[in-house]
Amino acid sequence: MKKRTFLKNLVALGVTASPGINSFAQLLSGVEHIPPTQLASDEDFWAKIRAGYKLKPDYINLENGFYCFVPQETLENFIQHVRDVNFQGSWYMRNHRKKDKDATAARLAALGGCSPEEVVITRNATESLDMVITGIDWKEGDEAVMAEQDYGAMLNQFKLAARRYGVVNKVVSVPNHPQSDEEIVDLYAQVITPKTRLLMVSHIINITGQILPVRKICDMAHSKGVSVLVDGAHAFGHFQFNLPDLDCDYYGSSLHKWLSTPLGAGLLYVKKGNAEKIWPLLAEGSRAHTDIHGLNHVGTHPAHTDLAINDAIDYHNAIGGARKEERLRYLQTYWTSKVRDIPGVIVNTPEDPARYCGIGNVGIAGMKPADFAKTLMDRYKIFTVAIDGSNVHGCRISPNLYTTLDELDVLVKACTELAKG
Ligand SMILES: Cc1ncc(COP(=O)(O)O)c(C=O)c1O
Repeated sequence: MKKRTFLKNLVALGVTASPGINSFAQLLSGVEHIPPTQLASDEDFWAKIRAGYKLKPDYINLENGFYCFVPQETLENFIQHVRDVNFQGSWYMRNHRKKDKDATAARLAALGGCSPEEVVITRNATESLDMVITGIDWKEGDEAVMAEQDYGAMLNQFKLAARRYGVVNKVVSVPNHPQSDEEIVDLYAQVITPKTRLLMVSHIINITGQILPVRKICDMAHSKGVSVLVDGAHAFGHFQFNLPDLDCDYYGSSLHKWLSTPLGAGLLYVKKGNAEKIWPLLAEGSRAHTDIHGLNHVGTHPAHTDLAINDAIDYHNAIGGARKEERLRYLQTYWTSKVRDIPGVIVNTPEDPARYCGIGNVGIAGMKPADFAKTLMDRYKIFTVAIDGSNVHGCRISPNLYTTLDELDVLVKACTELAKG
């Protein structure tokens, strides 16, 4: 899109202060010398990033964990892709779609530090993860390991595998406040038997924001001959890591969460040599079963969403993964450190910064999470989500780059007042 058209669109939307990628360069050149940990607390800088979002004024949005809606920059580019694909119609689909999708997947692979042959674009984490869970060549009595704090859709897929193939599921419970990595690794190790074939672990637990020691869990599982599937729905684009460093066998993420793509984009990573171990969900005729693309047949789907992944990557890279991670962790530390010691406030996320990034969970003693969430909305105009199960009772708090300290102060005030009863 031409820059003038882009700016005109923003004016029409009332978002005149949006930085745009070019002015991002200017904005960032002014802060290049500042380490990300220091920039994390520069409210003037983050106010300029906030100006690039169109925010609903009705509430303070602390529920980005479901969907990190896109900044205007990405939205305008996405709309342009819709127009372009519609303009070219089947011509685009026949001549460009596949090449563009492969090129985009290669950029995702670069972001994850792995080979382009190990990554494909899916529609979401559910597709990526459930394809692996269901695609293993299960034999009756084979065992799988997971945690009750994992996402419901994946737990349901394991239950389906139990009904369909006779898989035996071993479910551990991850403590909200572990003392060490070893405590968590041991938890998983204890339920592994000679029959265990797959262990699924969340890179970051969605209901609490706890980051798990995935590499250590993979090392332990591999030493016992068990493959590891990592649910990274909330990790990719949130905090920095290289996929090969985790040494997992399979990894799935949703890109419409922390990479902030438009809805309907996911990533599947399959370590080289593993693709042939998984039955595809939908058959792909033209590729060998050893190729990761053999797991990627979905039929005709919204190609413009795939194209917009590039814009989200541009936006992410312009800000910088390290800056983003540090800001998100700073925001979490800001509010949790103010409420952690208040009697009656229960923070369900560990205190060690290595075990969290942007997401946290907080409960109020004696108050049902659903009532807490409703009161936050009705009385304080704060939008969150209530979590009430799997040893977690509270509201998940997931700010984003546009969140201000003033907004988090409202949350702190609410927790302080509600804890008094
Ligand atoms: C940990 C985890 N895994 C998987 C998913 C599924 O993501 P999606 O609905 O984008 O497929 C979610 C969604 O919130 C999640 O939190």
